[in-house]
Amino acid sequence: MERTLVLLKPDCVQRRLTGRIIARFEDKGLNLIAVKLMRITPELSKQHYAEHVNKPFYPGLEAFITGAPVLAMVVEGLEAIRVVREMLGATSGLKAAAGTIRGDYSSSRQMNLVHASDGPEAAAREIPLYFRDEEICSYEPTLTPWMKAADE
Ligand code: CMP
Repeated sequence: MERTLVLLKPDCVQRRLTGRIIARFEDKGLNLIAVKLMRITPELSKQHYAEHVNKPFYPGLEAFITGAPVLAMVVEGLEAIRVVREMLGATSGLKAAAGTIRGDYSSSRQMNLVHASDGPEAAAREIPLYFRDEEICSYEPTLTPWMKAADE
């Protein structure tokens, strides 16, 4: 089992798409094990996007990500980090394949609706930025035997 940090960004919250996006993760068989509606501060933005802070687009990215609440989540499942990234599609909604979340709902590079950790190291770094251990509530869904074979 892997855990990944997913942020439904301010554009997703403002456009009332959170329910539809969460449903896609649930439909896939992934488990939501932590959820929080919150406002990202400029300080948290700089921590989260540390690798982008010196890029020309960072000031606009910070204004965007702090401009309205986000829905932060920890999503758990088999190969969850890769699976969720593939569900999101390419960074730009204009380039993302149809059938992916960004491909279906976004036409923007910045306002691409959802963030997800891009690898195990990023997930390990990002999850504690948003959730304390006691806020994460892992559980075994009762329908697991109907979602995958016992040896998967
Ligand atoms: P995300 O997956 O959260 O990771 C970094 C974010 O920066 C990205 O989604 C976009 O929202 C934003 N981003 C990436 N590249 C650009 C760009 N060239 N111009 C503006 N925003 C960008």
